[in-house]
Amino acid sequence: MTVLESDLRMSRFVGIEDIAIHVPRLYVDFKDFAEARGINPAKLEHGIGVKKMAMIDTNQDPATMAANACLKLMENNNLAPEDLGRLYIATESGLDESKAMNSYVIGMLEQIYGNSSFEHCGGIECKFACVSGSYALYDNSNWIRAEENDGKAAIVVVSDVAKYDIGSAGEYTQGAGAVAILVKENPRILVFDQKVTATVIKNEHDFFRPFGRQTPLVDGRYSNLLYLIQVKQAMKKYKIKALEGGLFKIGPNESVIDHIDYIALHLPYSKMGKNALAFLLRHEWRDLPKWADIIKQIGMEEPKPRNSNGTIESIITDKEFMENDEKFRKRFMETPQYKEVFNEKLASSLKASEMVGNLYTGSLYMGFRSELEFEHKMGKDLTDKRVGFASYGSGSSAMVFSGVIQPTYLEVVKRMDLEDEIGERKKISIEEYEKLHEGQKGIDETLLSTKKEFVLVKIGKDGVTEGFREYSFTN
Ligand code: HMG
Repeated sequence: MTVLESDLRMSRFVGIEDIAIHVPRLYVDFKDFAEARGINPAKLEHGIGVKKMAMIDTNQDPATMAANACLKLMENNNLAPEDLGRLYIATESGLDESKAMNSYVIGMLEQIYGNSSFEHCGGIECKFACVSGSYALYDNSNWIRAEENDGKAAIVVVSDVAKYDIGSAGEYTQGAGAVAILVKENPRILVFDQKVTATVIKNEHDFFRPFGRQTPLVDGRYSNLLYLIQVKQAMKKYKIKALEGGLFKIGPNESVIDHIDYIALHLPYSKMGKNALAFLLRHEWRDLPKWADIIKQIGMEEPKPRNSNGTIESIITDKEFMENDEKFRKRFMETPQYKEVFNEKLASSLKASEMVGNLYTGSLYMGFRSELEFEHKMGKDLTDKRVGFASYGSGSSAMVFSGVIQPTYLEVVKRMDLEDEIGERKKISIEEYEKLHEGQKGIDETLLSTKKEFVLVKIGKDGVTEGFREYSFTN
């Protein structure tokens, strides 16, 4: 094969064909939560950006959510198991140290499609906190580009229960849900840009969940700053690749953001997206001529850490810098320049997060879906628009990549309606929430009745089935 032929082969258009979402119908309301924990509700609504946090019922878990999202995706696209060559699950809510969640999910799907119908379909469970779904998407896209796929598509499912200790600062950043993404050649929604995906990785202690723990150990402020720094580093690398590869050219007084029409960020809570955009814009705009005017509006110079040795600890412990920087950031976020970028490129991706809460691995993709749905509902045409994705996983790694929306996205977006897809939701009391959180209810003590859904029916108690999970489809 000549070099030209191999280049042509590698330039196959691969990306997202469709996205299906499964969000549990139980939720905790932010006002009830604020009252119970003695927090000002305005902090949750505006400081964190959450109104409802989705919770799983006693007969739901990350595998049922993943299987339900997969089934919806397959039904919406008239897919049979033989149309698929891979089914990957990315999660940080693993149910087993050894058995991959995929096998449980395939077991559920085979209840619908028949025994052994997925036998040919490879896949693994992937873990790297919230970023693993993005690695899974990248690897599966390359599997198709390399023509290893025999004409078949891949499904990547991200599924998580975001759970923190009761009474902790993380508790108001909980939620649950799964997003199933269909990856194929010549996709209807978005084609990934090639050779620009950029990653950074570092051994970090911002957030981790050692074996046996139900909830993570978190250094909240550290995790926020690390997220920002890692995403900024990945974006720098993305920019170099994009410029070197000729994806776009940056003109005078322009930054990379001028060439990205929509932004989708990892959203542990929706306000994090707003703050991250401010951080990225400050870094992109600082050396541009337009910065002088922005500084004038803000009315103070951009603060610099005094005795920083480059570590996050040295920055966070510099109290004066942190306070000034917060003041500067908040004023910057009031400028028309920030607001314009926020409203045009990010705002609609935050809506779903406010309605559902945190999905860990799924947050970025629920945000992208939210952007498609709500921009469409506002009458915007997204054809040919470039979306920049910034994925972050604690521990830690960030990935920045991009893609272009295809004219055919309209066939898919018109049926997207998050509220309708979640179905009738049930608000639960704080007492009920706490019982669910602490696992004080049996599998059959459900708060909801389920129809046409996969549910957990049994967890083996002893012998060789101890811990083994059994699922069924409710008719
Ligand atoms: P906190 O103690 O609530 O923080 O912890 P805070 O007191 O600084 O308040 C948060 C915001 O509320 C601030 O605004 C306050 O000003 C505002 P900001 O500085 O962001 O602009 N506020 C109010 N606003 C309006 N009215 C009021 C009011 N009062 C205060 N009355 C924290 C917040 C996120 C740290 C905590 O919830 C936490 O530890 N969460 C878990 C960790 C986390 O989500 N980290 C995010 C980055 S790391 C990441 O994303 C990875 C992760 O997804 C894991 C993975 O990868 O698997 C978490």
